[in-house]
Amino acid sequence: MYTNEDEAHLLAQAKKHLTQAVSANDIGQLRAILEYADWKYYVRDNPVLADVEYDTLFKKLKQLEELHPELVTVDSPTQRVAKGLNKNFPTVTHLVPMLSLENSYNADDLLDWDRKCKELSGESNLDYCVEPKFDGASISLVYENNQLVRAATRGNGTEGDDITLNAKQIRSIPLKANISLLGMKQIELRGEVLITKKRFEDYNNKLIENNEQPLANARNAASGSLRIKDPNEVAKRNLDAFLYHLSYTQRDENNANPPLLQTHYKTLTSLASLGFKTSVDYTKTFPSIEEVINYVHEFETKRDELPYEIDGMVIKVNRLDFQDKIGQTSHHPRWAIAFKFKARQATSKLLHIDYQVGRTGSITPVAKIEPVTVGGVTISSISLFNEDVIREKDLKLGDTILVERAGDVIPYIVKSFPEIRTGNEQDIVFPLICPVCNETLYKPENEAVTRCTNINCEAQVVERIIHFTSKDAMDIRGLGDALVRRFYELGFLKNILGIYHLPFERMHGLEGFGEKSISNLKDAIEKSKQQPLPRLIFGLGIRYVGETTAKALARTVSHLSDLYSKSKEELLQIEDVGEKVATSIVEFFTHHDNRTMLDALEQEGLCLENKQKAEQQHGGLQGKTFLFTGTLTMKRNEAEAMVELEGGSILGSVSSKLNYLVVGEDAGSKLEKAKKLGSVHILSEAEFLQMFQKD
Ligand code: IVH
Repeated sequence: MYTNEDEAHLLAQAKKHLTQAVSANDIGQLRAILEYADWKYYVRDNPVLADVEYDTLFKKLKQLEELHPELVTVDSPTQRVAKGLNKNFPTVTHLVPMLSLENSYNADDLLDWDRKCKELSGESNLDYCVEPKFDGASISLVYENNQLVRAATRGNGTEGDDITLNAKQIRSIPLKANISLLGMKQIELRGEVLITKKRFEDYNNKLIENNEQPLANARNAASGSLRIKDPNEVAKRNLDAFLYHLSYTQRDENNANPPLLQTHYKTLTSLASLGFKTSVDYTKTFPSIEEVINYVHEFETKRDELPYEIDGMVIKVNRLDFQDKIGQTSHHPRWAIAFKFKARQATSKLLHIDYQVGRTGSITPVAKIEPVTVGGVTISSISLFNEDVIREKDLKLGDTILVERAGDVIPYIVKSFPEIRTGNEQDIVFPLICPVCNETLYKPENEAVTRCTNINCEAQVVERIIHFTSKDAMDIRGLGDALVRRFYELGFLKNILGIYHLPFERMHGLEGFGEKSISNLKDAIEKSKQQPLPRLIFGLGIRYVGETTAKALARTVSHLSDLYSKSKEELLQIEDVGEKVATSIVEFFTHHDNRTMLDALEQEGLCLENKQKAEQQHGGLQGKTFLFTGTLTMKRNEAEAMVELEGGSILGSVSSKLNYLVVGEDAGSKLEKAKKLGSVHILSEAEFLQMFQKD
């Protein structure tokens, strides 16, 4: 798609435009740079510009387009940003019906299929192409004259919904693709929209933080997203699209000598070279079905290593002329077959419901089920989140239920089977009083969650302590859930402050708790006093204040006490803080007990100061250069802002000028390059964060 020279040139131009004024003459080049940066980021997973650099160039392009509206093009990167809502999703007819796939489950099924393909093609040897079977929502894309003109859902296979506006929010779908290079004027492509496991988890965590019901699985998250009315909401979900099939082509008469696409594999590589995201890195061809069988079995064991969900592999006859010969039914092509991995669903029985009280008093029903093994893990307990879920899924005690667990994702109940009830099943009666403190429960009218409003409810107190010590908060290693509960029961620990007054002398002789454990615990508690302010704020467990908000709050103050008197209006000015969050923060800090606790924690030596702000003055990272690669737990722009706040700067690529490369999950070529250079300090995210914890 781009030669090395192209890439170097675009990057050099990017740097130039970052520092110099731009004019209407630069519009084309700014677009080319942004398209290139999008491709590197969303298709190749290898960003070349820092977020702030990208944003700066984007703004410059936008300003120029505003000054010269006549120069705006429909495929300009600025045109992805949706204005307005989807009014409805008109029905459109696919150029070619979107067929399904036949399924296979074992080697015998594949051997049968191989025999049939050979029979139908009249060939005794066939090459097969094997690729992942993405577990998302299928989509069709139409490009005409090198531009994306339409995107549609599968619908009934013949007709689907026009979701072009939403598809434009998926940044790995190019707005333009040079299909004329392949001698094509119009094409229809098929692919799958999905959300990576990591982004799905982040998205769900946000929902949970906001007391909203998390989405059941990544597949539902993707398919549900395609029909959201607000395209900006679609953009927030960070979806991806993999393309795997060229279903229709119309020739471009102007290109007399287009390259020939003779195989499926070549089609995939050609699509990749036009800028589409494909599975070509995981796709292999084999000259025999036996090798295919080995590969699919081997791949199944690696299934969880992929960043997104797959539910099998798809095997396709590689040569396109043989595909034509073999043909299709009205339901599926005969030249392709899905090999389905072992189901991650199983049936079980709903035995009873436990009601757990969370740190904010939320009552979570937890289904206790007959233990069942799904995807190698035994499940006996499944969170149901709130009463509505029980009603929506029509659950009764004694019901047979279908349980699913995909990858590392939390298990969930897909459905019950009311049709096979015996009559002995019992209705689930949601409690009216708190199972721990007996306080009358309360369910606000427009909320799904039922709550215990007694902030001194023992369950809430314990959960608040657990949250405070947890990994993402104060990270007090060794003081986990079980120990907090045990210390609470023993009367050693009554509240958060109590962590810093634990009666270690009374711990001697406790079962499973020797000298070493005591001294480790002492050290961990002592160390927690150095945790930076965002962690402390997050650890306080203020309702709706998750990690991101905690960081945003910390950034606005020099000392936590600056927050005590902030009004709702002032809080609303802070990034990430809306009405609900602001009210909750004011409520927390107005509470006298909370302020007293914070003062006491400061007396104990905890850090209520915003060290970053303090350090900024002496610019601890003055002159140091950083680059981030791979998937980080924190937002990349936040990590970059941390560096810049301390006087450091962000580079766009690995070079001898780079001092630190911070490596997240799935780091690729940048890490390799940095290792080769040898002069770059390679840091994990945790090590990077530690740099900011020093006095
Ligand atoms: S090929 C005529 N390839 O799985 C082409 N489908 O269960 C037929 N799917 O409807 C589709 N990954 O939505 C193909 N690599 C892949 C796929 C794939 C996922 C979906 C597709 C299909 C469904 C059938």
